[in-house]
Amino acid sequence: MSERDPVSQETAKGPPETDPRLAGEKHPVARMLAIGVVASLVGIAICLLIDWFPVDASGAAHKIDTLYDVLLICSVPVFILVMTIAIYSVVRFRAKPGDMGDGPPIHGNTRLEVIWVTIPFIMVTALAIYGWIVLDDLEAKQKNEMVVNVTGQQFAWTFEYPDQNVNSNELVLPVDQPIDFNIKTKDVLHSFWVPAFRLKSDAVPGLTTKIRLTPDRVGRYEVVCAELCGLGHSTMRQFVRVLPAGEFDAWARRQVRAGEGGTEEGESGEGSGGQGGGGGATAADGEQIFTAQGCGSCHTLAAANASGTVGPDLGKLQDTDASFVRESIIDPSAKVEQGFPDGVMPADFGNKLSREELDALVKYLLESQE
Ligand code: CUA
Repeated sequence: MSERDPVSQETAKGPPETDPRLAGEKHPVARMLAIGVVASLVGIAICLLIDWFPVDASGAAHKIDTLYDVLLICSVPVFILVMTIAIYSVVRFRAKPGDMGDGPPIHGNTRLEVIWVTIPFIMVTALAIYGWIVLDDLEAKQKNEMVVNVTGQQFAWTFEYPDQNVNSNELVLPVDQPIDFNIKTKDVLHSFWVPAFRLKSDAVPGLTTKIRLTPDRVGRYEVVCAELCGLGHSTMRQFVRVLPAGEFDAWARRQVRAGEGGTEEGESGEGSGGQGGGGGATAADGEQIFTAQGCGSCHTLAAANASGTVGPDLGKLQDTDASFVRESIIDPSAKVEQGFPDGVMPADFGNKLSREELDALVKYLLESQE
């Protein structure tokens, strides 16, 4: 097999002066190594200088960012090494025009092969162990965790605080408090993601998934759905507010009071006149439903401090007839307001509400007209 016919051997070797060593140049490996080291240092410096990540607002973010930096530091030299050898070989060993001969047959180089299998194996194994340690650390149960139940539905997140007895369509967290998120979905796959916290978890029908983290920077950050979940997926964005502990407690108390509703200050805004609706349904119940069902993430309603822009402004209804409002909840496609897309509001939205809840919601919307 290794026998070569004299003609191709000669063309493959070419004239003797093509061997760089004979022309007084350094050995190609030494050259490539020198170029590779310089290029790697420059590449690593550039990679570390680039601001890849959004603001970091949780303990998890620091560990994850460090992990990414280590991955960059390890992968840049590998990339540079491969590219240097490839580019150098293409330029230096390019066939002369008209040279149609085969290259010399090579059986391989055992030492080189052992090196290029062993080094990547050690690198990948070490990085996998490091990654596993970080993940294990992030998932570890913390002392004094506060539970927040996150529910995804087309196309909003709602948040339940069992300890505080609060339901909210805004995520509010106390700073430096370990949080245990339990993530569920009412309909299809969603993915709960706060880029500033770095962690993300799918919401899977039939399962409860978990994220643990400790917000450590006061501020307002985006909550994003990161799983294509239907026409309104791109609008499934809300905010998380990280507050000092005292302010969080005050917020939670206010929410509890608002939730208790009608008897205290639930109706303070509009008075409790009441037309439409029926039975024992009150507009205060309606406000609670409006909040719990996440209506405000798609609709503006001044009375509920909601400012969604996906669907029509519910404080300025085109038709203030109770039957129209009811129909629009049960069958959103029946009459679609001009300028808004059909099919974004879930068609089964009405099924999620009992008769009384529907009555209460209709009543609340009618009383909330500007
Ligand atoms: Cu929910 Cu995308």
